[in-house]
Amino acid sequence: MRIDKFLAHMGFGTRKEVRKLLKARKVEVNGVVVKDPGYNLNVDTDKVIVKGEEVKYKPFVYFMLNKPKGYVSATVDRRYPTVVDLVPVHRKIFPVGRLDIDTEGLLILTDDGQLAHHLTSPKKEVEKEYYFELDKPLEEEDFSKIKTGIRLEDNYLTKPARLLGKVGDKHGTIVITEGKYHQVKRMFLALGKTVVYLKRIRIGGLILDNKLSPGEYRELTPEEILVLKNS
Ligand code: URA
Repeated sequence: MRIDKFLAHMGFGTRKEVRKLLKARKVEVNGVVVKDPGYNLNVDTDKVIVKGEEVKYKPFVYFMLNKPKGYVSATVDRRYPTVVDLVPVHRKIFPVGRLDIDTEGLLILTDDGQLAHHLTSPKKEVEKEYYFELDKPLEEEDFSKIKTGIRLEDNYLTKPARLLGKVGDKHGTIVITEGKYHQVKRMFLALGKTVVYLKRIRIGGLILDNKLSPGEYRELTPEEILVLKNS
């Protein structure tokens, strides 16, 4: 891989910015300063040091975002800001699955298409857990109906899901393994209730980091990436 491409890929800016870095003699390969942007690198064996720090090659990047309201789960949109705007990195990342514009919470952004497919494919049945608030209290029969499957307004029967909460409360969490359009909102609507707040708190074995305020993000740890792959 060309060194300018490698450095841009590893987050050191645009190709133009990376060229400046090279020109300023800030980059070493195997102990020797490299200034040529076309220098050919073996990403597996060459040791690259930028400003004194080693840069290891990452084939893919993975971020956890606490999605705030008002952002669409897309890479581009003509009307609204996108979740990708919140994670300004020099990689072509995309959101894994979608949260509605008014839904908050755990969203993964990556450039790893295989993992994205694994997490969103209905066949894999990866659990997604949401915290919800409703306009009306939960009733006894809501639990059994969600457990067996709910007939939505378009006649679709949802897969068995889990409702965690108490009869009489207007909040709780729900665990689903599919991701139909507005699924949680439509499930509650079929039970005669309106979701007034929705936040995703878990995908498979990955829990939203409660240190992240809405709009904040961080890279996943190697352990968390493994957890997702095994979810
Ligand atoms: N279900 C919904 O209704 N909305 C979301 O954003 C996610 C799940």
